Amino acid sequence: MDVATHDLDLVLPGGHRALDRVALAVARGERVAVIGPSGAGKTSLLRVLGTGLRPTRGEVALRGADPWGLARAGLRRLRARIGAVYQAAPLPPRQRVVTAVLAGRLGSWPIWKGLASLAYPLDIAGARASLARVDLAERLFDRCDRLSGGQLQRVGVARVLYQGPDLILADEPVSSLDPQLADRVVGELNRDAQARGATLVASLHAVDLALRWFPRVVGIRAGQVAFDLPPVRITDAMLTDLYATESAVPPTQDNRLLELDASRTRRPVEVRQPLCR
Ligand SMILES: Nc1ncnc2c1ncn2[C@@H]1O[C@H](COP(=O)(O)OP(=O)(O)OP(=O)(O)O)[C@@H](O)[C@H]1O
Ligand SMILES: [Mg+2]
Repeated sequence: MDVATHDLDLVLPGGHRALDRVALAVARGERVAVIGPSGAGKTSLLRVLGTGLRPTRGEVALRGADPWGLARAGLRRLRARIGAVYQAAPLPPRQRVVTAVLAGRLGSWPIWKGLASLAYPLDIAGARASLARVDLAERLFDRCDRLSGGQLQRVGVARVLYQGPDLILADEPVSSLDPQLADRVVGELNRDAQARGATLVASLHAVDLALRWFPRVVGIRAGQVAFDLPPVRITDAMLTDLYATESAVPPTQDNRLLELDASRTRRPVEVRQPLCR
């Protein structure tokens, strides 16, 4: 699904401008990471792209259509093709994991099938396969309130993998996971999008994950796009500048210093100063 915004402003209750003239065009099948300091507007942007928030000004187009110009049924159909992963997965605590995963297809199933699946899970094998991709197959029949925050987050990812949407919007989908699992889950989202030709836009706290997995990285600061580049063209200076209000070094998994690998040393300065205070 192609996504485009033009001159997008979002003013939140209280008057804060969370997005400020954002212009972004994402082609179908592209994979884009959104990075930036806390409060930069990453969640706001993803919510506007997912039609959860209506922009105050400017345009958003999803596959050429203005979602806010669609009739209710059209908007519902569009939303069924979007899969959202939230930082804190909004899962009913008493729901079983299998039901939570199968709910990924509620928007595209006929009503009878959705209701039947709530009463008795109809596609246990499918749910198990999606959970296995995030290393959680053994928790299939557990209740959601028996899971840790990181496990719940992975249920949210499994749900979107099961849904198979045209557009995946993932808001800090691995913020509660340890570095190895985070890498695996971000990898799985990328592989899924790539295999199906789906579009993936993910906000990430860890800059190293964004640079490793995504062909395109958008840096956001104070509601504005600071840069929009392939990782190979992103410099230390850009990253330090992006996070200047938050910390002296760009955040990474485990707070390790950012190490740019050999494929990223085509920049003019070969010998890098360590990023430190
Ligand atoms: N419901 C709200 N009402 C008013 N202001 C809000 C609301 N939600 C967010 N904001 C403000 O909007 C700005 C952008 O918030 P947003 O959640 O998009 O940032 P973020 O980049 O996702 O940050 P984080 O990395 O902490 O998740 C922040 O300054 C925040 O304080
Ligand atoms: Mg956020």
